[in-house]
Amino acid sequence: MIRVVDGDANNIPAVMSVMNDAFDPGFGESWTGAQLLSTLVLPDCQLLIAIAQDSVCGFALSRWVLDHEELLMIGVLQKFQGQDIGKLLLSETVCRARAAERTKLFLEVRDGNKAYDFYLKFGFLPIGRRKNYYKNAGGISPDAITMELNLQY
Ligand SMILES: CC(C)(COP(=O)(O)OP(=O)(O)OC[C@H]1O[C@@H](n2cnc3c(N)ncnc32)[C@H](O)[C@@H]1OP(=O)(O)O)[C@@H](O)C(=O)NCCC(=O)NCCS
Repeated sequence: MIRVVDGDANNIPAVMSVMNDAFDPGFGESWTGAQLLSTLVLPDCQLLIAIAQDSVCGFALSRWVLDHEELLMIGVLQKFQGQDIGKLLLSETVCRARAAERTKLFLEVRDGNKAYDFYLKFGFLPIGRRKNYYKNAGGISPDAITMELNLQY
């Protein structure tokens, strides 16, 4: 059974393992442990972790900005992908944001990342594009697509 619980700085090594496994290293999407730590010390940030058999298999990191929530990052270990763990993490993020009366959940995703389809399926809508937002070693700089989920019923 998969459990989703609050995480904190003690979970950074486990979250970094998920991040290094889940994200394509070619696009500069993943963070370092130091970046994660500096975000986690902020009071408006939330880390959720998914636990399978006592170890972390996924995480979602979000932050509160005014009356909005922003999903900073979500990842699931490759061998656990396609088992609804991403959906579980996102649903819990939405549930908590609604309980705190946030009105919208925003995120940015690299143009070409398959996660775009995951977000579309969940109900997010594309609302904007930031040109050449991501960098990669091959000299290509993909755009970021901004997506929004309305949290008001
Ligand atoms: C994106 C990610 C978090 C999805 O997690 P997951 O656990 O594999 O997704 P789920 O099993 O919960 O899938 C939920 C739904 O999205 C769909 N989906 C998931 N990945 C998909 C993909 N690559 N293409 C199309 N649909 C996808 C599933 O089919 C499922 O649909 P359903 O509700 O109709 O059954 C995971 O693939 C991942 O870690 N990717 C790499 C890191 C990344 O790019 N993160 C996003 C940028 S921050």
